Amino acid sequence: MRDLLPPAVAVAVADPGDWAGQLHAAEAACLGDRAVSSRRRDFTAGRSCARRAMAALGLPPVAVPAAADRSPVWPSELVGTITHTRGYCAAAVARRAEIRSVGMDAEQHKELSPGVRRLICLPEEEDRCGRLPPGVFWPAVVFSAKETVYKNWHPIVGTWLDFHDALVDLDPDAGTFTARIAPARIDAASVAHPPATVIGRFAVDADLVRTAATLPPL
Ligand SMILES: CC(C)(COP(=O)(O)OP(=O)(O)OC[C@H]1O[C@@H](n2cnc3c(N)ncnc32)[C@H](O)[C@@H]1OP(=O)(O)O)[C@@H](O)C(=O)NCCC(=O)NCCS
Repeated sequence: MRDLLPPAVAVAVADPGDWAGQLHAAEAACLGDRAVSSRRRDFTAGRSCARRAMAALGLPPVAVPAAADRSPVWPSELVGTITHTRGYCAAAVARRAEIRSVGMDAEQHKELSPGVRRLICLPEEEDRCGRLPPGVFWPAVVFSAKETVYKNWHPIVGTWLDFHDALVDLDPDAGTFTARIAPARIDAASVAHPPATVIGRFAVDADLVRTAATLPPL
């Protein structure tokens, strides 16, 4: 993810030891006793990465509990994001004074079924994906970009966004995406300056799609 985010954002990608790292008590309480081992490992790797990213910013590696909606609760002076998918986990943090929000997402690079594609992509996005160069499952990139958009949007606005509430345009030459949020969601937002557009970067290899974006401070 380092390649996808600006220098003001500290990024940590999980090493093998992170999956079996230590949780703070406040984090363990959020995870609960009943979490299956794969969920426990993912959650733990995310917290280990978050602490390494905080340390890279010169900050104490404090607990990152989860809110009731499962969003991570960062120290007030920080913004941050976590993602995990099979065998891959990363966290990123930045000082709120420098970055308004950060989001990132990693997904398996694979074909989406027609049903899932329709759920994720607007018809216009499906058409555009069909015109992009072969060799990449472009709807999977749109999917990941939309999760990244949500991870930027939700910490600021606090409201839900459907997959059809953002229109994503991919630029394969630049490795960037531009997401335009539905005007109705912006009008309904009860915060000042809800983000109307999220511009991010993406990378695709044989196994993994990665996307990331930041919003500048107001
Ligand atoms: C929240 C969501 C984006 C997570 O994405 P995912 O691909 O399922 O999973 P990832 O591994 O990439 O990310 C999971 C992490 O996201 C973070 N997260 C969860 N809810 C979040 C929220 N509301 N805001 C920001 N981050 C959130 C958590 O850190 C979580 O990891 P943890 O539980 O171990 O702490 C996804 O589950 C979801 O609800 N999507 C629907 C909303 C959406 O994306 N709409 C598209 C709008 S255009």
